[in-house]
Amino acid sequence: MSGRSKFLTFFSKCALFFLIVFSRFPAIAKEGMWIPATLASHEKEMRAMGLEIPVDKLYNEDGTGLNNAVVLFGKGCTGEIISSKGLVLTNHHCGYGSVQRLATADKKDYFANGFFAKKMEDEIPCPGLTVTFIRRMENVTDRILTGVNDVLSDEVRDSIIAKRTAVVEKEFMNNTHLEASIKPYFQGNQYWISVTETFRDIRLAGFPPNGIGAFGGDVENWMWPRHTGDFSLFRVYAGPDNKPADYAAANQPYETDEFFNINISGYKEGDFTMVYGFPGITQEYISSYELKEVDSLTDPISIAARTRKLNVWNGHMAWYKENFLKYTAKRAGVANGWKKWQGEVSGLEANDVIGKKRDYEKTFQSWADKNVNLPLARNLLAQMRNAATAADALISEDQYNKEAPLGIELVQQGAAMEKVISCFRANFSQRQLTDTLQKISADMAGFYKNYDVPTDKDVFITLMVLYFNKCAAWMPDYYKAQYKAHNQDIGAWAEDVYNSSIFSAQDKLNDFIFKAKAGDSSKVINDPAWQLYNTIAIMRNEKILPALKNYYARMRYLDRLYMKAQMEEYKDKTFYPDANLTLRLSYGQVKGVDTKGAAKGPYQTNLGEVVALDDPNSDIFKVPQKLKYLYQTKMYGMWSEKGAMPVAFIASNHTSGGSSGSPVLNGRGELIGTNFDRAYEGTMSDYYFDPARCRNISVDIRYTLFIIDKFGGAGWLLDEMKITKKPLQAAAPKER
Ligand code: ARG
Ligand code: GLU
Repeated sequence: MSGRSKFLTFFSKCALFFLIVFSRFPAIAKEGMWIPATLASHEKEMRAMGLEIPVDKLYNEDGTGLNNAVVLFGKGCTGEIISSKGLVLTNHHCGYGSVQRLATADKKDYFANGFFAKKMEDEIPCPGLTVTFIRRMENVTDRILTGVNDVLSDEVRDSIIAKRTAVVEKEFMNNTHLEASIKPYFQGNQYWISVTETFRDIRLAGFPPNGIGAFGGDVENWMWPRHTGDFSLFRVYAGPDNKPADYAAANQPYETDEFFNINISGYKEGDFTMVYGFPGITQEYISSYELKEVDSLTDPISIAARTRKLNVWNGHMAWYKENFLKYTAKRAGVANGWKKWQGEVSGLEANDVIGKKRDYEKTFQSWADKNVNLPLARNLLAQMRNAATAADALISEDQYNKEAPLGIELVQQGAAMEKVISCFRANFSQRQLTDTLQKISADMAGFYKNYDVPTDKDVFITLMVLYFNKCAAWMPDYYKAQYKAHNQDIGAWAEDVYNSSIFSAQDKLNDFIFKAKAGDSSKVINDPAWQLYNTIAIMRNEKILPALKNYYARMRYLDRLYMKAQMEEYKDKTFYPDANLTLRLSYGQVKGVDTKGAAKGPYQTNLGEVVALDDPNSDIFKVPQKLKYLYQTKMYGMWSEKGAMPVAFIASNHTSGGSSGSPVLNGRGELIGTNFDRAYEGTMSDYYFDPARCRNISVDIRYTLFIIDKFGGAGWLLDEMKITKKPLQAAAPKER
C-alpha cells in the first residue's frame, strides 16, 4: 500500500470516526411519538442514530410488521408479545388490578410472594382483561374531511364527521371479527383509522412479589435512579381457529410469528432505542393560556387535595394491615397523579415553559398578521386568552368539587345511590324491587371489600376543611346548612354522616333493602351520603358543567385552527400528533441525566443498589429473602453484565401515561427492556419535551429474565422465547 493510500485510509478512518461520533450525538434526544405508518420519513435519521432494520419491519400491513407484536394491554397500558405462544410482557403495575381481582383464595400471597406458573395449565384466567392488536392504521382524512371547511359550525361539522366515520369504520371491518376505530389527530386536522383485534381470554403467567415488582413504591415512583422490577407476564388464549374467544378451559395459546426477539447483550450510553406503544394524552401545541390553567389551577388544586387524602390513607394503612390491603391499589392510583403533577409543575416552572410559549405566540401573531391565506389565524390567540380568562374561576371551582367532596369515597358512590333511587321511582312490584336492589348491592361488593369507614371519615374531615376554605361562593346550601347544624364542627358532622348513612356499610345497605317497601324512597333521598353527592351534582349540572362544556367546545375549535395554522407557519417541520392512545413509536438514546449538576448521571441501576436499600421494617423497601440470597451467591445465570445484575435504565424516548409496559427496542428491533415510568424532572413532557431533562425509565430485560428464571423458577417460560446475545454492529448499518 502506497504512503498516499495509507494516508487516505487513515484519513477515511478518522472521517468515519468523526462521522459516527458527531452524527450520532447531536440528536441526543428526540421529541415525538410518531404514527408507525409514517416512519419512512424518519428512516434516514433513525438509521443515522443506529436503526439497523428497514422501517417497514417495524410497521406494515401484510401481517409481518412488529406492530403485530405490540398490544394495548387492558384499557390503558401497553404490552409486548415475546413468544410464538402468545406470551405478553407488561408492567407489574399494569397487571396489578387484574391480580387483585382474581377469584383465587391465595391472591393476597401473590403480592407478598409472587406467582409463577410452573406449567401452562397453572396459568390463571383474568376475567375482564383484554389484549388488543393493531393490525393496520391508515390515514382516512380525505374520506372524513373532504368538503368540511373551517367556517362550518361545530354541530354541523361533528355530525358530518360522525356519519362518515361510521361508514368508513364499517367498510374497514368488512364483515370480519376485526374492529375499526377512527380518531382525530392534530386536533381534528387529520383522521386515522386503526383496525384492531381484541382477545378476551387472558391468563396470568408470572407476577413477581411487590418486593420486586413494586419495590420502592410511591417513594421511588416517578424517580430516577430507580430499582423496581416493574414487570408481569400474561398469555393470550384463542379459540380453536386462533381467533378471539370468550374464556374456555379448552382455549389454546394464541399462535403468532410476530413476537419480539430478546437481546441480552446490553447497551451503553448513546445507543439507539425505540419505545413502541400507546401513549395516552399529551398537549404539546396548546396556548400559554391553556397551559397556565394546568400549571396554576388544576395541578396545584389536585396536589393540595390529594396531599390531605394521602396523609390520612398512609396513617390508616400503617396502623392496620387490613387497610394496607384494602387501600394499596387505590393509593397507588391517587399518589401516582399527585406526584406526577408535582414534577410537572416544577418542570414547567424550571423551564419557564409559559414564558417560552408566550415568545412563540408573539412570533405566531406577527406571522398570522401578515398571512392573507389564513385570516382566521389572526384572532386565535386573543380569542383563546379571552375564553380562558372567562373560564378560570369555573375550572378552579370544579377541580375542587372533583377532588374534595367528590374525592370522598362514600360520596363517590353517587351513581350506585342513584340506581337505588330510580328503583323506587320505577313502578316495580315488591318482588322486582327487592331483586333489583339486591343486585345493586351485589355490584357494590367490590367497593365495600376495599372500604374502611374510619379511614374515609378522616378523609371526609380533611377534604371538607379544604372545601370550606376554598369554595364558599358556589357551595350548595345543603353543605352550609349541615355545617351550621353541627356547630361548624366538621368532625361531628362526619360522625353523623357515617353513622346515619345506609351506604357506609354493606350490612346496613342490605338491612335496608330487606325492609324496603315499593314507593318509599324517602329514606334514601334523605340519606346524608346521597345529599352530599346529589347537591353537588345539581350545582355542577346547573352552574358549572354547561359553561365548562361550552368552554371546552370553544377551545377545541380554536385549538384545531391553531394547530392548522402552526403547521402552516412551520411548513418544513415534521409535526407529530399529540398522544391519543393509539399506536406510536418514539426513538431516542440510552442517556444518563443529572438535572442538578454538571456531572453525568448514571443511566443504569443494579441489584447491588437494590440490596443496599433493603429495609426489613419498610413495606416498600423490603427485599425478598430469596432475592438477597441470589445476590449474595451471585446466582445470576446468563443474565448479568460484568458480574453485576442490571435492574433499570433510562433513555431519552418521548413517552407518556399509557406507555407503561411498552417494549424498549434496540436498533435491530430486539427487546432490551420494558418501559414503566418517566423521571420526575421530565414529567412536563406531556406539554413540553426538554431533551436535557426528559427520560423514560425501563426495566432491563435481563432483570426480568433473571427474576423469571432464578427467583420464580419458571425457566420453562424462557424456552419459548428467542433470546440472543449478539451485540449490535457499531459500524454503518447494512443496506436493505
Ligand atoms: N408512575 C408510573 C405510571 O404512571 C408507575 C405507577 C405505578 N407505581 C406506583 N408506585 N404507584 O404509571
Ligand atoms: N407509568 C406510566 C403508565 O402507566 C407510564 C409513565 C409515564 O407516564 O411516562 O402509563
